[in-house]
Amino acid sequence: MKSKAKFLTLEGVDGAGKSTCIKFIKKYFLGKNFNYVFTREPGGTLLGEKLREILLHDKMEPETETLLMFSARNEHIHQIIKPNLKAGLIVVSDRFTDATFAYQSGGKYVQKEKINILKNWVHEDLKPDLTLLFDLPVDVSLSRLNSDGNLDKFEKEAADFHTRIRESYLTLAKSEPKRFEIINSNQNINIIEKEVYLALDKLFL
Ligand SMILES: Nc1ncnc2c1ncn2[C@@H]1O[C@H](COP(=O)(O)OP(=O)(O)OP(=O)(O)O)[C@@H](O)[C@H]1O
Ligand SMILES: [Mg+2]
Repeated sequence: MKSKAKFLTLEGVDGAGKSTCIKFIKKYFLGKNFNYVFTREPGGTLLGEKLREILLHDKMEPETETLLMFSARNEHIHQIIKPNLKAGLIVVSDRFTDATFAYQSGGKYVQKEKINILKNWVHEDLKPDLTLLFDLPVDVSLSRLNSDGNLDKFEKEAADFHTRIRESYLTLAKSEPKRFEIINSNQNINIIEKEVYLALDKLFL
């Protein structure tokens, strides 16, 4: 297997199609014989998964939520992300710090400056090489979520919360156009698959 250590993150509103595209990314890496690991936030470690349960289901102050997100993230970075990158693997995380800016700042009005302090503290030198932002109108994403009725606390929020999240993500993408690839998720899955491969080609070829 070739060594192509890169850090990729997947972002977007709930139901945007992040999990759906993981199979395309796997197919791409297998085709190229790249070594990779998939992980997710909040979570990715034993402690992180316990914190995920609390974060997704328990009510708390938005700042408590932010601090817990970064607690889980600190474990994730030290136990999973950095060791795997160091070992030469590609690390793909379903959500990372952009989600904290979008959900806790955009969605719940935690000050960006506070999140930046935690980011600088916890990330140190770590930064995603590529972020795929799955973007689609909120009414479409919410209609995709509602099928199983088993919603977490974020998914149960009103449409305007999800609209602020979408807008926050788009603002982040605008501020770092080199890192972000925006994928229009409101189209046929076969087209999305091709767009994902094009974005990966830009990073890996
Ligand atoms: N392009 C698409 N067209 C139609 N339906 C889609 C498309 N992409 C995903 N879906 C469907 O939308 C639902 C949500 O997709 P998915 O679980 O991949 O989103 P997600 O971004 O991972 O959501 P979450 O943030 O809740 O984890 C799924 O039922 C999936 O099959
Ligand atoms: Mg998902």
